[in-house]
Amino acid sequence: MKNGLALFLGAFVILALSWAGLLLTAHQQLGSLSQYKDPTDDVLYPQPLSGVADQGRLVYQDLGCVSCHTQQVRHEGFGSDIERKWGLRGSYARDYIRDNTVFIGQSRLGPDLRNTGSLELHPYADAEYFYKLLYAPHSVAPGTNMPAYTFLFDVHPLAGRQPSDKAISLPGKYAPGAGYEVVPTLRARALVAYLMSLKDPFDYPTERNLNAAAAPAKEGAH
Ligand code: HEC
Repeated sequence: MKNGLALFLGAFVILALSWAGLLLTAHQQLGSLSQYKDPTDDVLYPQPLSGVADQGRLVYQDLGCVSCHTQQVRHEGFGSDIERKWGLRGSYARDYIRDNTVFIGQSRLGPDLRNTGSLELHPYADAEYFYKLLYAPHSVAPGTNMPAYTFLFDVHPLAGRQPSDKAISLPGKYAPGAGYEVVPTLRARALVAYLMSLKDPFDYPTERNLNAAAAPAKEGAH
C-alpha cells in the first residue's frame, strides 16, 4: 500500500483532534468552575463534604444506589422536579465540583436525592428517618420497592446491658423483639451523614440566567 503512511497519519490526526476537542471543550466549560463566595456572609458554595459524609459517598457508590436514584434536578420547563420538591432550583454544573465521582444516575425508580438532606424541602427526613428507611423501608414507605439494607445494622441482644444511645426505634412488627436492639454500623452512619449532606441551598447569581433561559416563555412577556 503506497499511501499507507499518509492514510495512517490522516486518521491519527483526525482522531487526535476530535479527542482533544472533546476534552478541551469540556475543560473550558467545566474545568474552570470554582467555589462561589456568597458576598452576604463570605461562605463558599458548594460547601465541601465533611470527612464522614465523604466516606458515606463511597458507601453510596459501593451499594449501587445510583441504579434507582438520580442526583440531578431538572430545570423548570424540563419536568416536574421542582414541583415534586426534589430541589428549590435546577442543578448546575457548579454544584458537582466537590464530587470526585458524580452520581448523576440515569433511572428514577426512586426519587431524586440531590436535595434529600434539605430539611426545608423534606422536614420529615432526619437521620432517624434515613436509618428506618435503610433497615426497614416499609416502616416509613409502605409498599415501596426500595430494598432493605439490613446488613448495614447490627442486631444485638441487650443481655442486661445498657441500651446503645445509637439504637434506632422501629414501629410494631419491624422492631427486633424484646431484649434486642438495632444499631447502625459505621457504614450506615457514614451513609446517612452523606444523605444529610445532600442539598444545594445556594442559587449562584452567575448561573441564575441559565435557569431563566430554560424556563418556558411567560405568557404576555413579548
Ligand atoms: C430498587 C430500587 C432502589 C434502590 C437500589 C435504592 N432505592 Fe432508595 N428508594 C427507592 C424508592 C422506590 C423510594 C421511594 C420510597 C417511597 O415510596 O417514599 C426510595 C426512597 C429513598 C429515599 C427517601 C427519599 C425521600 O425524600 O423520602 C432515600 C434517602 C433513599 N431511597 C436512599 C437510598 C440509598 C442510600 C440507596 C442505596 C443504599 C437506595 N436508596 C437504593 C428505590 C431504591
